[in-house]
Amino acid sequence: MPEQIDQIKRDFEAEAKDIRTADALEDLRIKYLGRKGHISNAFSLLAEIPKEEKPKFGQELNKLKKAVESQYNTLYESLKKGKGKDEYLDLTLPGRKPFIGRKHPLNQVSDEIKSIFKSLGFTIEDGPEIETDFYNFEALNMPKSHPARDMQDTLYITEDIVLRTHTSPVQIRVMQNKKPPIRMIAPGRVYRRDTPDASHSPFFHQAEGLVVGEDVTFADLKGVIESFACQMFGEDINVRFRPSFFPFTEPSAEYDFSCVFCRGKGCRVCKNTGWMEISGAGMVHPNVFKAVGYDPEKYTGYAFGMGIDRIAMLKYGINDIRLFFENDLRFLNQF
Ligand code: PHE
Repeated sequence: MPEQIDQIKRDFEAEAKDIRTADALEDLRIKYLGRKGHISNAFSLLAEIPKEEKPKFGQELNKLKKAVESQYNTLYESLKKGKGKDEYLDLTLPGRKPFIGRKHPLNQVSDEIKSIFKSLGFTIEDGPEIETDFYNFEALNMPKSHPARDMQDTLYITEDIVLRTHTSPVQIRVMQNKKPPIRMIAPGRVYRRDTPDASHSPFFHQAEGLVVGEDVTFADLKGVIESFACQMFGEDINVRFRPSFFPFTEPSAEYDFSCVFCRGKGCRVCKNTGWMEISGAGMVHPNVFKAVGYDPEKYTGYAFGMGIDRIAMLKYGINDIRLFFENDLRFLNQF
């Protein structure tokens, strides 16, 4: 017995030296002081020793138990105060900064576009990214054989279902559900079959604008685009319209903003033209009104597109569209 008692004491002390965490200390307590622990086992051996020796060893065992308990308590207190080697609290260390998330730059720009148009009385509309041929092409005056379909490198899901190539199908969906007057924008993601490079991505973002009423004119379109340009990029930004073609507008135009980097003077980014292409626009084609059951004799309207990625690139001076989609935190943290 005496050797056993000494052995338990030595073992406990050796193990206690290496305790660094509260969990390890609890395991140690269970191993020695627990109901089936070493000390409790030693007490049960008392039954087997001669009667005369019992009191002495009983006392020895009690002493052992007290000693182990007191060492345990000391260890417990010191761990609680954080004095364990790994849990040592160094008050001179700098604090850990909590990680704060933020909105993606494209969402920030999209929100800004929405709020500018809301202030001009536009509603915000939404449509599906998986569209039927009817909404993406047919109702927009692009019948099956129409050559303008080649302008858009469509990603087909089936012969009749596509990933929308532009946000213009939302025009159709809104007009089917509402009577004029309509004043809406519809921001969202669009898809085209493109090999990614600095200025191309197989998906990107547009905001569609549509205004329909009884006396809506091209001059209204110019006023709204100009107001948007100034609110987005500053009062000194000019807008110009160039003749163009879209099957769903007539007349059609492309519009440019004066270069936001050189403010129109000419620089490397605008290739010395002083202008930046933004998107297309025009007066809603009568065939589009017919497709949704509006009377083209009664109503007129204008529509415009807007590249959200492009506007974000201009606003923040970003030269590669792929940066938006790689989710590199070193990029995203800058916004
Ligand atoms: N949908 C056209 C495009 O994606 C842009 C556009 C919208 C043109 C509305 C005219 C009117 O290129």
